[in-house]
Formats: sequence, structure tokens, C-alpha cells
Amino acid sequence: MTHHEVVFGERLIVALDLDDISRARALVNQLKSYVGLFKVGHQLFTRYGPAATQMIHDEGGRIFLDLKYHDIPNTVKLAVEAAVALKVTMLNFHALGGKEMMAAAVSAAHDAAAKHHVSPPILLAVTILTSLADPDLVAAGIAPPVAEEVARLAYMANEAGVNGVVASPQEIPIIRSTLPADFLIVTPGVRLSNSLNDDQKRVLTPGEALRTGADYIVVGRPIVGAPDPVHATQELIRAMAL
Ligand code: C5P
Repeated sequence: MTHHEVVFGERLIVALDLDDISRARALVNQLKSYVGLFKVGHQLFTRYGPAATQMIHDEGGRIFLDLKYHDIPNTVKLAVEAAVALKVTMLNFHALGGKEMMAAAVSAAHDAAAKHHVSPPILLAVTILTSLADPDLVAAGIAPPVAEEVARLAYMANEAGVNGVVASPQEIPIIRSTLPADFLIVTPGVRLSNSLNDDQKRVLTPGEALRTGADYIVVGRPIVGAPDPVHATQELIRAMAL
């Protein structure tokens, strides 16, 4: 691996969207020296709980716990404390939980990190799910368009002390134009080519995503579903540099 590939690989997050922990372990073992983080989502965590995060630690990988907390501030505070005890590097919650909920998450993350002698995790807010469009916002009584609501929620997250957001490729420009340069953007919906989009509505290539302003990209199926996941990962990392 070249120095360049190591640096870009750090910014690649592999979504372990699998229901079999042995397969997930094999992937972490194969990919840990190439990529930055492994994303544990609802499927793996609901099935295996902390055994899923422990498995990644045992293999020497780092964790993005993608459980998108959304509850009253005290409940989210307690959940974030529990997540920090699992020594995750990154975790997230819904910005629609409100500014007070996000601020509670931020202070819980710092307090719990000090208690466990670890660095505070990177905290990300989910703004508007990419499965929702303007009519869905209207139906829920939220003012459209989606892009403006995303920017509003990202602004609120930053005010609450959150480190960044999960955002689709089309949302990156508005977030970059309204928030400080160090506000992180983590972007799914990345493919090597437009024809390989699975159910992602709009995709960018790894190079496009980074040039548009993403700090990290999240890739699932193109890696976990590939016949040769190491080769697929290397291709994606090479494409980040293009
Ligand atoms: O397989 P694929 O590369 O599409 O996986 C993308 C990952 O990012 C999945 O875990 C998916 O849940 C997540 N994600 C997404 N779009 C969002 C937020 C999260 O695809 N807006």
C-alpha cells in the first residue's frame, strides 16, 4: 500500500450489513488494515449486541455504532454513556430529537470518555433520512424543501456541539456552504460507477464524494457483497484518489 492509499483508506467506512457474525468477523479480519472504521448497524447489533462490537475490537478494528438514537434527552444521554463504554470511535443520533437532546449526547460522550480513559467518540447527527422527500416532510408537518431542512438541522447540530452529520451526496454542497470547514460530513451512496447503484437513488464515485466535501465515505454492498472484498476495497480506495 502506498502512503496515499493508507491516508484515503482511513476515510473509508465499511458497513457490516450482515446477519452472520462469523462472516462479519472474516471481513473485519481481511479489511482492517485497509479501512478506517467498521459500521455496526441495527441488524448486527440487534442480533448480537455488544458481542458485535467486541468482535471488532478483538480483530483490531475501529467502530462506528450506527444506532441513530432518537429519544428524550435523558434516555439518549444514558444510551451514549453505554455506547462509550463499548469504546466506539463514532456514533450517531437523529437531529430531530432536538438541540437539548443533542447537547445531552455531547456532554454524556465527554463525561463517559473521561471516566473510561478513552477519547470522546466522534458524534454525528442524522438530519432527514434520504428515504424521505418533500411530500413526506409536508405530511409530517415539517416545512420543505428537504435541502433547507437538512441545512437547518445541521446548523442546529453544530450549535449543540455535534461533530458532523451523515449526509447524502446531494446534501454535501449546502452543508459545506453553511457550516464551518471542520464540521464533518459522512456520506453513504458511494459507488464506483453510476450503473451499480443498488437501491441508492443518487450515487457519487469515491473521488466525487471527497471532492464535493465528504470527510468519510460509507460503503456496504459493493464491499460486503463482492466476490473478493479485499480487491473491491482496494479499488474503492484507489478511486478515492481520482
Ligand atoms: O450497501 P450500501 O453501500 O448502499 O450501504 C450504505 C450504508 O449506509 C447502509 O448501512 C445504509 O443503511 C447507510 N445509509 C444510507 N443512506 C443514508 C444513511 C445511511 O445508505 N442516508
